[in-house]
Amino acid sequence: MNKLFTRRQFLRGSLAAMAGIALSGMFRFPYQAEAQSAQPAFDLDRRVFHLSNGMQMPILGLGTYTLMNRVAESSVLSALENGYRLIDTAAGYGNERGVGQGVQKSGVGRDEIFLTTKLWPTNVAMSDIDHRLELLEMDYIDLLLLHQPDGDYVSAYRTMEEAVRQGKVRALGLSNFTATQIEEILEMAEIPPVLLQVETHLRHQQKLTAQYLKGREIALEGWSPLGGRPNTPIFLTDETVQEIAGACGKTPAQVIIRWHLQSGRICIPGSSSADHIRENIDVFDFSLSEEEMERLNGMDRKEPFFPEMGPRDEDTLAVMQSLSMTD
Ligand SMILES: NC(=O)c1ccc[n+]([C@@H]2O[C@H](COP(=O)([O-])OP(=O)(O)OC[C@H]3O[C@@H](n4cnc5c(N)ncnc54)[C@H](OP(=O)(O)O)[C@@H]3O)[C@@H](O)[C@H]2O)c1
Repeated sequence: MNKLFTRRQFLRGSLAAMAGIALSGMFRFPYQAEAQSAQPAFDLDRRVFHLSNGMQMPILGLGTYTLMNRVAESSVLSALENGYRLIDTAAGYGNERGVGQGVQKSGVGRDEIFLTTKLWPTNVAMSDIDHRLELLEMDYIDLLLLHQPDGDYVSAYRTMEEAVRQGKVRALGLSNFTATQIEEILEMAEIPPVLLQVETHLRHQQKLTAQYLKGREIALEGWSPLGGRPNTPIFLTDETVQEIAGACGKTPAQVIIRWHLQSGRICIPGSSSADHIRENIDVFDFSLSEEEMERLNGMDRKEPFFPEMGPRDEDTLAVMQSLSMTD
């Protein structure tokens, strides 16, 4: 599974376009309807990412890891009331029912919301995807991710592709996969992944991963953008972050979120607090200067809190070299 595959040309671009055309005929979705092309691009002004399948997704959303159903419901409700339209959950979080309830109670139209959930890849059957829909009380999932490269993830991905064909899911993605594992999926995929969700924060900025993913037309979404519980104080009390926050008249969390967005990464800070949820989306009325971005970029130590998960630079570099992606 982990060996490096030699690259072959495959029909990824045309398959992506075909999937986009098929999907656009199937759904009425505001983000998607405005899509101009299948060229992936991060649009900070319009606050959307143009995915490779022609859909668009919001670049800032709410993460719900560790939130139990009740809290997930109130956080989702707060988020939607404050203008968020991207919500991230997972089968493994055990809170899809609460997330679905929050969506229902918000009164925001389902077609305005971009809902991501994730499957644990061991023994995935179509009934597992149906179960997500039942818990969420939704007819479709906007983006379905494979949570980890565990078990028979290739066969899990095939089941997810079938769910797209059946109209239960609109787009597919991966989480915590290495570059070699992503290549394995790209080799077999008829509906290529549009996004990779990985640990990304000031200490682990995933610069090489971002370069590789760009070459593969896959969006980068960072998890634990503030460092994750219990590491957030490391970043929120950091001297550089605090100095920049003071200069911008913003909070440290807002500076960090803005840094993710200006770096071109989709960002999903998790929160159980209505105040934090409000604060975290109030990041579109200022920008970080080049110098401030450089200072924050300089905090990278390539140091994940979970080194056993996600891309590793040596592997990513080897894959990029095999694809002639490096100079
Ligand atoms: N794919 C994966 O394997 C994976 C792994 C981890 C996470 N994720 C996803 O990524 C999302 C984000 O990651 P995360 O939740 O682990 O970490 P995070 O977003 O980096 O941090 C969440 C922590 O930050 C605090 N926080 C949020 N806004 C704040 C603010 N403005 N000021 C001060 N503290 C603030 C939250 O506390 P309060 O509750 O008090 O606001 C919480 O303790 C998750 O919720 C989940 O959806 C995916």
